[in-house]
Amino acid sequence: MSTVKAIKNAIVCLALLPRFLAAAVMFWLLDFICIRKRVFFRMRQQGGDAVDPPLCVSDSNRLFSLESLKAVWHGHKLDFLKAARLGRAAPNTDVVQLEDQRRGRILDHAKGERPLAFRAVVRRHGDIADSVVVYIEEAHPSDGWTSTDAPYQIPRHRCLEDRLRAAQLMRLEVPGCPVVVDSMENSSNAAYGAYFDRLYILQGGKIVYQGGRGPEGYRISELRDWLDRYRASLDQSNNLVIHV
Ligand SMILES: *[C@@H]1O[C@H](CO)[C@@H](O)[C@H](O)[C@H]1NC(C)=O
Repeated sequence: MSTVKAIKNAIVCLALLPRFLAAAVMFWLLDFICIRKRVFFRMRQQGGDAVDPPLCVSDSNRLFSLESLKAVWHGHKLDFLKAARLGRAAPNTDVVQLEDQRRGRILDHAKGERPLAFRAVVRRHGDIADSVVVYIEEAHPSDGWTSTDAPYQIPRHRCLEDRLRAAQLMRLEVPGCPVVVDSMENSSNAAYGAYFDRLYILQGGKIVYQGGRGPEGYRISELRDWLDRYRASLDQSNNLVIHV
């Protein structure tokens, strides 16, 4: 049994090594401020969609460190081993309610066939979709890979109370959107490969949109486009009903 586990671990390591090394080299290069300035300047010039948060790192934050590499490895591993796949059933993981600390399931937040889109932007589409933010482990804990760009300095959660307390701050960032927290087993983070952050749309218990790994793959514009298309398809089917 342990041999099987060791072999599995070795395969995972081999599969992750190229992307991990690429990220490590990128981080090392970005620690040269002249390179960092140039890369982020070019990214900003390329623009992208206005609703997408721009990728930027303050000059004072070192990227290449033991803590950052550990975090990157952790993120790649969760992404590689996640159960959530586009078109497949959505993992119904445990989450904890912020108000009363009741344990529930992620799909409890889905209402019928209405799409459940994780995280904000959904306000505009509030009539056709619901949303929920699942607060997971900190990507930049103050006792780990620290970042002065992080909106709050929060230490690693040692217990559920720590996590719930930190999530109260998170709630201020997303007014009007229900916030739940991942269990201390981190089951949502693992099943959805959510670290550092990630967007999903679930519908009818299935994953109908899976965003890329954050921060670089975190595209609110993709979520918005999906919902725009969904709205158009609803309008069309409504028209059809009228024609009939
Ligand atoms: C879940 O994440 C926290 C960090 O926020 C960590 O302290 C804890 O050990 C993790 N739990 C498991 C089961 O890995």
